[in-house]
Amino acid sequence: MRLTRRQALLGLGGAALTLSGCSLLRGTPQPAQLNGTARLPTPYAVPLPRPAVAKPYKSDGQADYYELVQRVAEVEILPGLRTPIWGYGGQFPGPTIQARSGRRTVVRVTNTLGVPTVTHLHGGHTPPDSDGYPTDLVQPGTHRDYVFPLEQRAATLWYHDHRMDQTGPQVWRGLAGLFLVGDEEEAALPLPHGERDVPLLICDRSFNSDGTMPYPPRHDETYMGGVLGNVILVNGAPWPWLGVDRARYRLRLLNASNARAYELALSPGGTLTQIGSDGGLLAAPRRLDRVRLAPGERADVVVDFAAYRVGDQVELRNLLGDGPQARVMRFTVERNARDDSAVPATLSRVERLDPAQATVTRDFEFSSGGPGWLINGKPFDARRVDARPRLGQLEIWRLTSDVAHPFHLHLNSFQLVSDDGPAEWKDTLELREAQTVEIITRFTGYRGRYVLHCHNLEHEDMAMMSTFEVI
Ligand code: C2O
Ligand code: CU
Ligand code: CU
Repeated sequence: MRLTRRQALLGLGGAALTLSGCSLLRGTPQPAQLNGTARLPTPYAVPLPRPAVAKPYKSDGQADYYELVQRVAEVEILPGLRTPIWGYGGQFPGPTIQARSGRRTVVRVTNTLGVPTVTHLHGGHTPPDSDGYPTDLVQPGTHRDYVFPLEQRAATLWYHDHRMDQTGPQVWRGLAGLFLVGDEEEAALPLPHGERDVPLLICDRSFNSDGTMPYPPRHDETYMGGVLGNVILVNGAPWPWLGVDRARYRLRLLNASNARAYELALSPGGTLTQIGSDGGLLAAPRRLDRVRLAPGERADVVVDFAAYRVGDQVELRNLLGDGPQARVMRFTVERNARDDSAVPATLSRVERLDPAQATVTRDFEFSSGGPGWLINGKPFDARRVDARPRLGQLEIWRLTSDVAHPFHLHLNSFQLVSDDGPAEWKDTLELREAQTVEIITRFTGYRGRYVLHCHNLEHEDMAMMSTFEVI
């Protein structure tokens, strides 16, 4: 991948950068941890929950129909405390939708909350009127049918709130869930499945001693860089544990946090074999000792617990966290068991987009400015269209950051413009501090208005979003 340090933009040479470290960016807010008043729960004391699987209320020749009712509920997240949430189906995470590629899926979202909502299917190849444009509000007491044709490959997607200026607090309160798309290519592979295909929706939250999850007021500058919780939740449970067989497991990792990045690794060591990314299967597996996920990113990995002994405890840790926030969850290796699964050397055929064929290049600069965050010097304005890519045209986008920004693109996945390595489809990409990254994409399927934005939800809410219209 072609990554260039952004020294020219910063107007300084390499020596000055090294001497001053990151001090050039000191004035730019970084994510800040919000500590609630609740005592932190004991790690690895609660079992890992599996989010409920949604059942269609109707299926016909055209589609499967689901209903998700957004409602206030009280759930036990920290042992002994009742936490009010806003949940799809009154649950956090919301029910998992298991859909098939090419099979139309209609999700009726009914809003019984006191505020408007918007639902977006993250990673969905969706017509514009169902994509959850940030001002397409579902008012309290009403519903909307989101139509997902799912003309796309198998992948681990997720749905979440996307209301303009309010996505951070509304997701924080619980409005997020998994949406898995399967297809025949993937089903034909001998990958771990059933009980051994485990989604791990990872996010951080904070709790007060009355059980509530505090969230800062909108203009609190301390948290302008992003809100970090001090409790790490997996599938809505604090630092949970999962009993496993000595066998391969597929772990569908999703970073659903507002602003926290993770570098996930096993302790005391072990291999994470990555088989999938945001946009589905990789061409070939990648053996890693750590997987880095910025907010919004996914990685499907296979872990072979046969590498451990019965009775071993294997922690999943976050190398970017400190103290309690360095923990994520723990696996307990419980028993020997049969394992017919395998990770084939070839997983999928992934078309590689050719940068030499691109006819348009666009620049997007992500920076702080005024009381918020800007793209190309401008705050989000739903009345303005910032780019008009043509349907089917191959484009290179050059993305530049000041502090770190997880860039996310609606409608189509993209690839990194890279000179080597297997092709991979991404829809979210961590722009590290002072970096320029080139991506290549082609918009297909639908004309209309979509957004690109920073997936640090506090940045997004403070206007780090831009509209493009496919023409
Ligand atoms: Cu996951 Cu536009 O968002
Ligand atoms: Cu999205
Ligand atoms: Cu950002």
